[in-house]
Amino acid sequence: MNELARRAVSADVAGSKEEAVELYLKLVDTLAEAMKLESDRAERAKYTQHMLEYVERAEALTRTLQTVSRRKLVARRVAWSDIAGLSEAKDLLRQAAVLPRLHPELFDEACPAWTRVMLFGPPGTGKTLLASALATEVGASFVQVSAADAVSKWQGESEKLIREIFESASASGACVLFIDEADSLMRARTDDESDGRRSIKTELLLQLQNMREGLIVVAATNTPWEIDIAIARRFERKIYVPMPDQDTRRELVRLKLQARPDHLLDPFDVEELVRQTDGCSCADVDVMFRAALNRPVVLAQQSDYFALRGGEYHPLGKEPPCGACPREKGVCGACGAERASVYDLGAPVHRPALSMEHFAPPIPSVPPERLRAHADWASRHATL
Ligand SMILES: Nc1ncnc2c1ncn2[C@@H]1O[C@H](COP(=O)(O)OP(=O)(O)OP(=O)(O)O)[C@@H](O)[C@H]1O
Ligand SMILES: [Mg+2]
Repeated sequence: MNELARRAVSADVAGSKEEAVELYLKLVDTLAEAMKLESDRAERAKYTQHMLEYVERAEALTRTLQTVSRRKLVARRVAWSDIAGLSEAKDLLRQAAVLPRLHPELFDEACPAWTRVMLFGPPGTGKTLLASALATEVGASFVQVSAADAVSKWQGESEKLIREIFESASASGACVLFIDEADSLMRARTDDESDGRRSIKTELLLQLQNMREGLIVVAATNTPWEIDIAIARRFERKIYVPMPDQDTRRELVRLKLQARPDHLLDPFDVEELVRQTDGCSCADVDVMFRAALNRPVVLAQQSDYFALRGGEYHPLGKEPPCGACPREKGVCGACGAERASVYDLGAPVHRPALSMEHFAPPIPSVPPERLRAHADWASRHATL
């Protein structure tokens, strides 16, 4: 058993994770067998303690193995034209990640391609969406890492992971390494910071400093002021992804309406929505549209009366449409309305075309003081 433990630990220390996991699990089995023969309670408690430790370690290693192999973004396909506004950000990202491969002749030592780009701005303004569009364009050459993946409670594990992430991005020929929610990995140093956190940042600095040629790191954050200054300095382009202005909101509303070509909104209605969404992020506009599209579902669910017309049930609301309508399940002999629940209907429910009455005023999610903080940081640090 001791020999097995020694082999497991040395495989772990050597970084042979798969072998270490196998050995730790074998060790757990062996301990379980040994425990059956042990009658002393204190000894049995010791066995259990060891088994728990080994299982926990094997689980931690398995998680890091999965993290490394799962990192490739199963990208949601996003076209640049799906993103409203942000034309400078789009141009800059394509300039960094696409042009050098298409037209290397445009770049040389005096005019190198951008390799470290930071996207910052309030929540819900399109930072992750921009990265998804870039992923769609460059395909397999895109690797994403989220901070949560890279932080491990095991000492020394996180730096190793960061090193592995950069190395495997290089080895797989990836050109873009996207670090989402970068602030949680790159937060400025504090006095009470653990050694683990500090060494993550040291490793990141090192990796950012010594990147393979052709590799581009794109980091996104909605709290740029929390990022360690030394790390922030490594990003030669810091792109402000602001709240949408009027034109961007108009473009977004039109994009959303394209998905429902049978909608009943006229140009005045579009302008009304643009006005109502002043102060909203693009994600808020998205939520407003989703709620509007969901409105018929809610109405159908809340309806107690339905009219069957053209083979479809039309929800009529909670109140009986006429005085003769039944109070229990059944069809009204006078107006033909059916008292029923949406779950009991025997035919499809009518879905009305999207109209202004489906919209409720949006709720801005980003407080004004947060916007001021971004504008202020942008005025001092943005490079666009
Ligand atoms: N510029 C945009 N054009 C179209 N849709 C957008 C845009 N920005 C955001 N959205 C919508 O809002 C959702 C959230 O956007 P995204 O995840 O890119 O925000 P983010 O800037 O990364 O926010 P966070 O800082 O909170 O991570 C998107 O899925 C999309 O539906
Ligand atoms: Mg995001």
